[in-house]
Amino acid sequence: MTKDKCGTCFVPEGELDIQREFAAKVNAMWDTNAAPKAFVRTFGCQQNVADGQRIMGMLSQMGYTFTDTTDDADLIIFNTCAVREHAEDRVIGNVGALKHHKKLKPDSVIALCGCMMQQQHIADKIKKSFPHVDLVFGTHVVHKLPEYLHSILTKRKRRVEIPDMDGVIAEGIPSIHDGGVRGWLPIMYGCNNFCTYCIVPYVRGRERSRLPEDIIADLKKMVESGIKDITLLGQNVNSYNGGVSFAQLLRMANDVPGDFVIRFMTSHPKDCTKELLLAMAECEKVEKHLHLPVQSGSSRVLKAMNRHYDREKYLELIKTAKQLMPDIVLTSDIIVGFPGETYEEFCETVSLIKEVEYQTLFTFIYSKRKGTPAAVMEDNVLRKEKGKWFTQLCDEQEKIAEKLSASQIGKRFRVLCEEKGRTENTVNARTLCNQIVEISCDEALIGQFVDVKITDASAWILKGKII
Ligand code: SAH
Ligand code: SF4
Ligand code: F3S
Repeated sequence: MTKDKCGTCFVPEGELDIQREFAAKVNAMWDTNAAPKAFVRTFGCQQNVADGQRIMGMLSQMGYTFTDTTDDADLIIFNTCAVREHAEDRVIGNVGALKHHKKLKPDSVIALCGCMMQQQHIADKIKKSFPHVDLVFGTHVVHKLPEYLHSILTKRKRRVEIPDMDGVIAEGIPSIHDGGVRGWLPIMYGCNNFCTYCIVPYVRGRERSRLPEDIIADLKKMVESGIKDITLLGQNVNSYNGGVSFAQLLRMANDVPGDFVIRFMTSHPKDCTKELLLAMAECEKVEKHLHLPVQSGSSRVLKAMNRHYDREKYLELIKTAKQLMPDIVLTSDIIVGFPGETYEEFCETVSLIKEVEYQTLFTFIYSKRKGTPAAVMEDNVLRKEKGKWFTQLCDEQEKIAEKLSASQIGKRFRVLCEEKGRTENTVNARTLCNQIVEISCDEALIGQFVDVKITDASAWILKGKII
């Protein structure tokens, strides 16, 4: 591997050439009139969605077309997530159901990849209990898919490839976009934070940043292809280190010509600087929406989570953000029922959300992840009790969201028409601040920016009229 000045491992061009040769060999295997069909399903976060798009890019190079049902698929790939138990259970259920598919279509190939597969205990379980799975590959070897598929198709021997390593960056892999107005652009991979509840650092490797020139080149290509809403992605974008800071990268992205908006995810509060908030405030293409996961309102719990900030520091940051951007929309993630959390500590989270006033909260009941420090912490609160806390939090949040949404009535926004609405002749658009607005208009406007006035509001959705 070659390392750049930031210590990042880039896959050498020669290795990628070898993969392109394998892709060409697979492509040459098909009858010209009968392209094989692939079904690719991605679970989990946008990082995984971006990986799924690269997997589809490589499959297309190998001559595959795509299908959205497993029934007629010659190749099935599940790109999995490990963040909570529920996510893993869904995958296991879906993989079990494929036994039948393999019986009907014995020549088809079934492959599993993504974060869940990067765990040895899961790979062992798949090997033992699911003989119909042909290929398991981890998060660090996605670029080797052509080589793996070629070997399965020619030798028909199962492969499990989950090398344990810090992770690499493979540039120049084609990506297939879903055709919508939104696009995902990874700027970095991995995570070094080891929050005590979280599996991500174990399955995604160490933090590594792409070079700014590679990111900006991709951004320009996305803009040229008509994508109007681009999210820069990383587990903690504030620790981006590609030779410039994340705030500088935002300014570089803002300078790319074109009519589009820039979003980013996720900001870790411990690394969120005034420099970044200023860049957000000053860049006209950067949306005034900050997703700043707090996880808990209790300083004691935050310490046990290894988050490296406390309630006061977090609230201070929110104050600065609101001062710099009075119309800012805030969203957050919260974990309810972390091991050892008391009801009083949970109430500190409730009081924090009332103080901050988030537009949207992503709330999760703590889920034990094997191999993380929290998995061995004492956890005495019953699941049923945690469920009650969870409902209490969601009820409070609904009131806050309703109040914030109602305060938008009468305001004017520039919005991007994104997709068909729930009813005939309506379109769902998104404000610069990431709120959904349903407008009555022709679907032909999808993909365009329009000015709207907000006419009605509920906790989850605004209604607007074109002006
Ligand atoms: N890197 C991002 C988030 C990654 S995971 C960040 O730091 O904010 C997305 C969210 O899933 C987390 O913010 C957290 O709220 C939730 N999460 C992660 N691990 C979890 C677990 N073991 N149980 C419940 N929720 C979890
Ligand atoms: Fe997980 Fe924490 Fe890393 Fe986010 S910052 S991915 S929550 S370890
Ligand atoms: Fe994302 Fe799930 Fe992996 S949230 S990083 S796909 S564990």
